[in-house]
Amino acid sequence: MSKVTVVGAGKYGSTTVQRIAEWDIVDEVVMTDIVEGLPQGLALDMNQSRPILGYRTIVTGTNDYADTADSDVVVITAGLPRKPGMSRMDLLGVNAKIVKAVTEEIVKYSPNAVIIVVTNPLDQMTTLCADVSGFPKGRVLGQAGMLDSARFAHFISEASGADILDVTAVTLGSHGETMVPVPSMCTIGDTPISEVLDAATIDELVERTRNGGAEIVAFLKTGSAYYAPSAAAASMVKAVIDDQGAEMPVCAWMEGQYGISDVYLGVIARLGVNGVEEVLEVDLTDAERAGLEEAAVAVAEKVADLQQIEL
Ligand code: LAC
Repeated sequence: MSKVTVVGAGKYGSTTVQRIAEWDIVDEVVMTDIVEGLPQGLALDMNQSRPILGYRTIVTGTNDYADTADSDVVVITAGLPRKPGMSRMDLLGVNAKIVKAVTEEIVKYSPNAVIIVVTNPLDQMTTLCADVSGFPKGRVLGQAGMLDSARFAHFISEASGADILDVTAVTLGSHGETMVPVPSMCTIGDTPISEVLDAATIDELVERTRNGGAEIVAFLKTGSAYYAPSAAAASMVKAVIDDQGAEMPVCAWMEGQYGISDVYLGVIARLGVNGVEEVLEVDLTDAERAGLEEAAVAVAEKVADLQQIEL
């Protein structure tokens, strides 16, 4: 009996639930939200799509954390997007309170779960969740690298004309200004992208990837992206459930890899039932390595902001 909970029935949360359910990889997905009726209605609607799409996973919509008990994996999407007039610190304060409260409920009902955090600001919220949970650090991880790498892959495919399924792209670092897209690891088939695209084009794609979330927010005006983000979060859930040692970029706790310690950072990790089973050290150019070190410093500074907030 495998069970996944997604906290938050907004666009990001509900689309994540839908993807996990449609992949038919667990028995039950619980979707919980503070808004009464919302998760229940969405769950009923999704369950009615099962005979058409041909999957068995049952979706349970609830406002009660008791229904999430004994989940194997919990995804935290709960939180607010920034509203006009709100500073980054204001958003940090609001979402930190939400993530803290949600984490306490998860720990109470699913003490053995792996927690995947997607709430922004991602690096701080993942750190906060790990601290509040008291879980081994490997059992708390953040979603960002899968999404940012997918965006990079899309841009490479578009610029080169290559089949999207032949493109491999990698981003490390933070989910923010110090994101580290890694062109040296990007390929089209077996060919490095540097043999297909010129340096100026690659630089443009790197910059567009760093601003990938903001580009979509600017179009949508209210709210942020959720199709690719939910695909990324669902793929991490699948990696944990499958327990086949899938390797992917995630926000993971650093213990000396690349000479970096005691900070959550976007790196490639091997995932399994215990969450992050191992952080992998890959070959990077000097510039990419320096970018990763810079990102670690930036994340540590941002995490320090959390100390100023009354939770
Ligand atoms: C983004 C948000 C979901 O990058 O973090 O679109």
